[in-house]
Amino acid sequence: MPALLAIESSCDETSAAVVVDGMVKSNIIATQKVHAQYGGVVPELASRAHMSHIVPVVDTALKEAHVSRNEIAAVGFTQAPGLIGSLLVGAGFAKAFAQARSIPLIAVHHMQAHVLAHFIEEPKPQFPFLCLTVSGGHTQIVLCRDFLDMEVLGETADDAAGEAFDKAAKMLGLPYPGGPLIDRYAREGNPDKFQFAQAAMPGYGFSFSGIKTSILYFLQREQKRDPDFISKNLVDICASVQKGIISMLMDKLVLAASETGIQQVGIAGGVSANSGLRKALQETGERLGWQTFIPAFQYCADNAAMIGIVAWHKFLQGDFADLNVTPSARAAW
Ligand code: KG4
Ligand code: ZN
Repeated sequence: MPALLAIESSCDETSAAVVVDGMVKSNIIATQKVHAQYGGVVPELASRAHMSHIVPVVDTALKEAHVSRNEIAAVGFTQAPGLIGSLLVGAGFAKAFAQARSIPLIAVHHMQAHVLAHFIEEPKPQFPFLCLTVSGGHTQIVLCRDFLDMEVLGETADDAAGEAFDKAAKMLGLPYPGGPLIDRYAREGNPDKFQFAQAAMPGYGFSFSGIKTSILYFLQREQKRDPDFISKNLVDICASVQKGIISMLMDKLVLAASETGIQQVGIAGGVSANSGLRKALQETGERLGWQTFIPAFQYCADNAAMIGIVAWHKFLQGDFADLNVTPSARAAW
């Protein structure tokens, strides 16, 4: 019954998980509140917060799993992609732990981990499986043939879907991260009230800079006519923005499913917490005969449990990293 320790520190969540025999026994997440006042993640502050959170977070994860340091057989950590200073804190901790205990080190790709978040709990997809990974930093359609055999079919050329939500929220005067707030207001609004221009991208590619500009010009125009336009129409604007972003995501997912013939389809990443996207996936799945998958809420956003699942499969294959491995802000996979 090998026990693995997993560390996630790519952005503004410090997380540690213990995985025993491929099962998640604990998943502790310390969210950094310090960034809210700046309207976005401040990399230097994130690194410092990881530094002070990492030891207590790991201690709590071990305690909750009822596993001692001596029982840990390997340590996995997020090697890429992410904020380099944040990644360095997790990598440094993982290396020190592995060296002190003379156990293997396992380097994990964060985007691969978001996809394998589907394999933490039942129901789990069967291979081949299509995953739309939507977070604050990435938007990808991934064809997953096996646990560690994945191919990125398409991705965004500019902003990520989460970034599009957050930037739209900022234009509306909402605090960071604005994605969840747009979701909340959108529930009470009319999604067909306003239309925004969308960029047409070839294949499975995405682009969110067009819709962002369209929202900006629309708000500037309307506010000239009525300075209170945003407050009077907030729920309808949020619902319309959300509908626009979701339709771009779903169009490409439908295309990928129809061209590959794959009917096991899921969403992952922080934006998969969006209630409109969840509903769209379910409804589209029912219409097209897909089996659909959405990880539990705590496994959608950044967490170490998903890092632990990738680490577990690498552990089974003996795919270990050298102690001189370095994190990378933008590693391809
Ligand atoms: O995966 P994640 O926690 O971190 C990254 O790796 O980026 O994703 C964070 C992103 C943020 O942009 C946040 O606004 C967005 O996910 N997000 C949402 C919702 N919950 C989180 N966007 C729309 N609706 C939500 N309910
Ligand atoms: Zn993420």
